[in-house]
Amino acid sequence: RKPRLLALAGSLRQDSWNRLLASAAAQMARDAGAEVVEVNLRDFPLPLFDEDIEAAGLPEQVSRLKDLFASADGLLIASPEYNGSVTAALKNLIDWVSRPDGQYGRAEVFQGRRAALFATSPGGLGGMRGLNHLRDILQPLGTWIAPTMLAVPESMNIFDAEGNLVDDGARNQLRALVEQTLAAIAV
Ligand code: FNR
Repeated sequence: RKPRLLALAGSLRQDSWNRLLASAAAQMARDAGAEVVEVNLRDFPLPLFDEDIEAAGLPEQVSRLKDLFASADGLLIASPEYNGSVTAALKNLIDWVSRPDGQYGRAEVFQGRRAALFATSPGGLGGMRGLNHLRDILQPLGTWIAPTMLAVPESMNIFDAEGNLVDDGARNQLRALVEQTLAAIAV
């Protein structure tokens, strides 16, 4: 069967550069023969993680997200860098999804997943410090991280007016990362 990927960006912003980058990666993966579901975090408004909310009953959006992760072989994650780390929105999602419940064990939906981690930032470093943190969060949950994490600087110069990734260097590096990730998926 085709490899299944989940693509998402760790930004809630309507015009997120990282969501555009996640979409570009999703299209490259489809071109390489994968099935890709793109998740916009704006469609999954999550409360800040709180064990009391969890004990009162898992929010429906959390269950839907867990099912999406569970059905994926791999992850394409575009992670903006906030103050040198991952966004609170992305960490909050990981915290919710990593928890055991009646259906899934602890971190079950992360285990064995193959993940491409990438970022873009208007700044010169592209968000690599945040990717290092994200790797350190996901690896202990059992996710395999593609070795070549990609941080693309100067977000404002790499997309066209329609939001397509048009920078050749970024396209080539992102395609290589997507292919590295797909190659690590045994289906
Ligand atoms: C930022 N930004 C930022 N950029 C960066 O390269 N390193 C950083 O440490 C930070 N820190 C930071 C903190 C906070 C609170 C905000 C709001 C922003 C800038 C950030 O890269 C920029 O806003 C991106 O456009 C965010 O990604 P999206 O939303 O466009 O995907």
